[in-house]
Amino acid sequence: MKEKNKPGGLSQGLTHYGDAGFAGYLRRSFAKSMGYSAEALDRPVVGIAYPPSGYSNCHRHFPELLDAVKRGVTAAGGLPLEFPTIALPEVFLAPTSLKYRNLMSMDTEEMIRAQPMDSVILMGGCDKTVPAQLMGAAACDVPAIQLVGGPMMTGTYRGERLGACTDCRRFWAMYRAGTISDEEINEIEDNLATTAGTCPVMGTASTMACIAEALGMALPDSAGAPAVHADRLRIAEATGLAAYRLIQSGITPARVITEKSVENALRVLLAIGGSTNAVIHLTAIAGRLGVSVKLERLNELSDDTPVIVNLKPTGEHYMQDFFAAGGVGAVLNELKGKLHLDCITVTGESLGERMTRSAAKPVDRRVIATHDNPIEAVGGLISLFGSLAPRGAVLKRSAADTRLFEREGTAVVFSSLDDLAHRIDDPDLPVSADSFLILQNAGPTSEAAMPEAGYLPIPRKLAAQGVKDMVRISDARMSGTAYGTIVLHVAPDAAAGGPLGLVRNGDRIRLSVRDRCLDLLVDETVLNQRRKESADELSAPRPQRGYARLYQTSILQADEGCDFDFLTATER
Ligand code: FES
Repeated sequence: MKEKNKPGGLSQGLTHYGDAGFAGYLRRSFAKSMGYSAEALDRPVVGIAYPPSGYSNCHRHFPELLDAVKRGVTAAGGLPLEFPTIALPEVFLAPTSLKYRNLMSMDTEEMIRAQPMDSVILMGGCDKTVPAQLMGAAACDVPAIQLVGGPMMTGTYRGERLGACTDCRRFWAMYRAGTISDEEINEIEDNLATTAGTCPVMGTASTMACIAEALGMALPDSAGAPAVHADRLRIAEATGLAAYRLIQSGITPARVITEKSVENALRVLLAIGGSTNAVIHLTAIAGRLGVSVKLERLNELSDDTPVIVNLKPTGEHYMQDFFAAGGVGAVLNELKGKLHLDCITVTGESLGERMTRSAAKPVDRRVIATHDNPIEAVGGLISLFGSLAPRGAVLKRSAADTRLFEREGTAVVFSSLDDLAHRIDDPDLPVSADSFLILQNAGPTSEAAMPEAGYLPIPRKLAAQGVKDMVRISDARMSGTAYGTIVLHVAPDAAAGGPLGLVRNGDRIRLSVRDRCLDLLVDETVLNQRRKESADELSAPRPQRGYARLYQTSILQADEGCDFDFLTATER
């Protein structure tokens, strides 16, 4: 380990040739082949984890952003060196991007460790990239700072504002119900995502951007600036400067991501009505440093944290409005009395000091409400426990229909994603608006690798009758841009032998948001018999090679952040 606060520059972490002098000489020689002067090569090195991809619409402005980052590093006196890592373009990955989040985190971590750098900038954006980078950097002894790419701008369709992907889902549901035509859905497709940047609602990407800022891992007021706004470039330049200063302060992620800052981030997640996915990601990030996120604690915080942000999918506005309204700084100020203000941030300031600077800015109360006059009195997310979810499940109550909160219903079971696709629109499906739709084998242990399939479509025949929401329960995830009475992340998952896999058509299930409970009302002797019958399915052949094998042998459950068992730290 290099001595703290003392830049090692390019001469640290030499390649092993058995002759350190030769290794240094060879490295400088090869670096000079890129046209660097000796003076440039003597500077402290700021690495830039850079995930470019022709598949990533969300990152299509990254070359310009990278220029701005490098400008900041160079002006400060450092040598900026970007290195590519894999990217995780959300809608281009099969079976789902979550399967590859841990791979990107390993890529990021190992390249930070293997290459000479005194600090590192994490350039991310699309859903899983920011958590992957924070997970990867968390365990490294290298000062790190997050830079997000920023949200895209909204589009318009016949005078109406559109933003991916809450509006994608809304229009698709209308198309399924037969209320809009082929021609209209094609026109909408052209206008849903029209600029660079991440989804412009409070989906997973926006939520993780806010969480990175709330944790103290990103610059203040950096989460919300749109991808194409000049402020985004200024933030990039400032991040380059801050990354250079981080070398002197020696503040590593282990000092920033602590039990207290994770709790602050959970408060912000609840107050912004953020994505359910963030619970998994924050658990995984914290877990890399031995900090545990308990779902029971989430419930306590949720009952004591109001929703104050009026953004889609639960509200009306979009990320560009959130940024203009005051952004994360305004949210933090409203939550001030409930936060741990002594947490250190990447600039070396405490959270409290950072907030003192932003307290005077005007706030648009149509978008960010006050703590005392909130949009919802309690937090957006809760966890449920019970015989159907012994290790917990998550419900985004701020996106759900309160009329469905205290219910007993009859299960209509889909045993897999294929089964769901084949039967959901079957006119003979025995389903009513009061049924509970159950999806099995879509959890982290399944072949599907926990896709965002928890937003089960309303069966076409019910949609045509005007049914807009039903209780839906699964071990899958849900896009942060989706909404509905949707119980997710049921743990243990069905493929790991959890009770969800034992549910059969006609079983009764009780959901009580008030009691935080989710129970399968079936006698234990019946369940034991079903357990025996399903034992063969659970011992199905596993992948034999490559990353798929590593995933299958190492993946943890949702309540453990779906990390790999060999990457988590012991609790501290
Ligand atoms: Fe990248 Fe939504 S597809 S953030």
